[in-house]
Amino acid sequence: MTRAISLHDVSKTYTRGVRVVDRLSLDIAPGEFLVLLGPSGCGKSTVLRMIAGLEEVTEGQLLLDGEYANHLIPAERDVAMVFQNFALYPNMTSRGNIGFPLRVENPGADPGPRVDATARMLGIEDLLDRYPGQLSGGERQRVAMGRAIARHPSVFLMDEPLSNLDAKLRNHLRAEIARLTRELGVTTVYVTHDQAEAMSLGDRVAVLRGGVLQQVGSPRSVYALPRNVFVAAFIGTPRINLLRGLVRAPLDGAMTISLGKQFLRLPEPLSLDHQLLRVQQGREVIVGLRSEAIRIAKRADARPGEAVLTGLVEHVEFQGHEVLVHFNTGSQAAVVPDLEAPRPVARPSRRRRREGSGVLDRLRERAGSLRAGPVVALDDPPDTAPRPAEPRLPGDLVVRTTPDIDLRHGMQVPLLVDIAHLFVFDQHGERISPAPARLPDLDE
Ligand SMILES: Nc1ncnc2c1ncn2[C@@H]1O[C@H](COP(=O)(O)OP(=O)(O)OP(=O)(O)O)[C@@H](O)[C@H]1O
Ligand SMILES: [Mg+2]
Repeated sequence: MTRAISLHDVSKTYTRGVRVVDRLSLDIAPGEFLVLLGPSGCGKSTVLRMIAGLEEVTEGQLLLDGEYANHLIPAERDVAMVFQNFALYPNMTSRGNIGFPLRVENPGADPGPRVDATARMLGIEDLLDRYPGQLSGGERQRVAMGRAIARHPSVFLMDEPLSNLDAKLRNHLRAEIARLTRELGVTTVYVTHDQAEAMSLGDRVAVLRGGVLQQVGSPRSVYALPRNVFVAAFIGTPRINLLRGLVRAPLDGAMTISLGKQFLRLPEPLSLDHQLLRVQQGREVIVGLRSEAIRIAKRADARPGEAVLTGLVEHVEFQGHEVLVHFNTGSQAAVVPDLEAPRPVARPSRRRRREGSGVLDRLRERAGSLRAGPVVALDDPPDTAPRPAEPRLPGDLVVRTTPDIDLRHGMQVPLLVDIAHLFVFDQHGERISPAPARLPDLDE
């Protein structure tokens, strides 16, 4: 059996005034594999624990198969959880550990056949008579997974189940989890802060920041059309290049985006998305370029739709099958705060309510909290203290290339930018090009 999970405007408050999960709405289909992705502290585990019934829902509704479920105790929800710090009973063998929940649920029945079938599925038959102390980390994690699977729950909730394992094992088990959950067809909500894991596992990925849902969609859609600069920067390796730019749209000349010392000329005739950028004339924006949008080639080789920049090689990162080249183009990188650990901001809601209770105030408050603050602030408000300087990375533009190109520090190289892959975000970090309206049809 598998079930649908719906969250309607679900919030969680531990300390007064701080919503660690802020009006989250999500519909998870039966059998779907949904990944909750976000940096440390953004509320992923809290969401999972609310679905499991281990944490109370402060506001909003949780529905299981369309039925109101806020009040159900964990045992009534038929969910199985796998944690990062899974605990096996040290004095029981793997067989005992996997069979334990079955014996608790149904003391009269023999758990043997279920345990054997589960072990076969996980390829751990030969580990059944060993104690946890006699297993490696990966083997223990498989036994923990077996304990969750053997119960045949209708929902799997997995909270960073692989993060204690080394990279190779993690990749291996990741593939196994994908296969298993597909075979079992059980609705799965999987929490991770690792975007590569999210992209490779999820039918859909839900990106959280500071307790607020930023975007939910297929891995392909969140990568190709990130709704804001936070999602763009959080998803994809190497991280998307984000540069501060200024839109110049003279009535009688070509439209360009100035990047400090150089500029990107938008190819003519202007696409519809670029025509819409005209209203940004004179405004600061953030230009987003993924490393694959830029290639190293002679100016003369530029194709229609490519703009030319020049980069000074600052650093060459050899990665075997490819090379990442860090260039200095004389532009300024846009800093996206919160990528590593955003903190929901305490809202002085009581004071605000007393000061103004008009519709406008309520709307304003709602708009503010929906975003958990702007994703990025290009103009620091005057009363904020200066931020500590970001660690300076070499260069401002990272380009991915093949290892056969011989580049050395200090070389000047022409860079061809595929403008079809250009993202432009406004001062608050919201995507303005490609136009936001294009988001819904991508998955159709
Ligand atoms: N019991 C609690 N009491 C008060 N605050 C809490 C409690 N549990 C979690 N929090 C806070 O809620 C926020 C979200 O925590 P949560 O554990 O859901 O984050 P997370 O996204 O799972 O992070 P991580 O990736 O580090 O596991 C954090 O700021 C955390 O400090
Ligand atoms: Mg967590």
